[in-house]
Amino acid sequence: MQPQKALTNQAQYRKLLNSMTSDRLYEIHHVDAFEWLASARMNSIEAVVTDPPYGLVEYSDKELTKLKNGRGGVWRLPPAFDGSKRMPLPRFTTLTEADQKSLRDFSFRLASLLKCVLVPGGHVFIATNPLISHLVYESFMKNSFEKRGEIIRTVYTLRGGDRPKNAHDEFSDVTVMPKSCWEPWGLFRKPCEGRVQDNLRTWKTGGLRRISSSEPFKDLIQSSPARRREREIAPHPSLKPQNFLRQITRAALPLGEGTILDPFMGSGSTIAAATACGLKSIGLELRAEYFKMAESAVPKLAELEV
Ligand SMILES: C[S@@+](CC[C@H](N)C(=O)[O-])C[C@H]1O[C@@H](n2cnc3c(N)ncnc32)[C@H](O)[C@@H]1O
Repeated sequence: MQPQKALTNQAQYRKLLNSMTSDRLYEIHHVDAFEWLASARMNSIEAVVTDPPYGLVEYSDKELTKLKNGRGGVWRLPPAFDGSKRMPLPRFTTLTEADQKSLRDFSFRLASLLKCVLVPGGHVFIATNPLISHLVYESFMKNSFEKRGEIIRTVYTLRGGDRPKNAHDEFSDVTVMPKSCWEPWGLFRKPCEGRVQDNLRTWKTGGLRRISSSEPFKDLIQSSPARRREREIAPHPSLKPQNFLRQITRAALPLGEGTILDPFMGSGSTIAAATACGLKSIGLELRAEYFKMAESAVPKLAELEV
């Protein structure tokens, strides 16, 4: 059976089960993730799947206002060269020393809090990009997380590939930096208690769920940007696609038991993906407008077939 098909069936089964029991698989909170994490119980979360803002300026009131007005600021508004309107991109290429320090501090604080709430053997899947991933990974490793590789999401982005600014005729054969066609997701694990098999018995974590008995979970995932219907339901500037998120949320709980946390849920796309896979999850979001978006988007995204 195709994995996609299995997911759809599972989502349908879960929807039916939910309607029968009226139990919700997820909870979402309008809260500062750092405050929530600081007061959360130790060893209470089995996996984390998240796409953080990295404490940079993109999600400040000032920059979000500029983004909405479509002028200036750190959000790069890609050209609509084929007539269709495109999603804006955060501009990571302008990181100063101070930005790098704040990114390091942000990742370090996050990693140190996640280390407490995660159970032994719990995995973290964390979205990054090729320009900043080393700063994020370093913070997790300094907090005793084991690096378990990277998930490579192949996706056509609009970052890079440009000729030198204001001199593209003169240097027509030059590209300033490569056109980015992939997105790295760091994969980390809190050390297991004993062997993986012991940890699986005690904590239900330590490994990743296979795609099927004959196919392991793999670190290269072909993906496309979120589809139009998803963007209509959840118009968040950093929306991640259901197809990709369902594959990684499913892999995050090796026995399908436990809770997935997304401390920076935005529109709730991770929470929707976990729900579609029949998994329990908790989502946190600081900004009222995105929290509201998640309240309405999660059930709708979870019902979509991908
Ligand atoms: C990169 S976006 C995540 C978007 C998400 N992947 C989606 O598909 O909708 C990061 C989110 O974290 C939120 N955020 C920023 N600081 C936060 C904090 N301290 N606690 C909780 N959420 C925060 C931002 O408002 C933003 O919506």
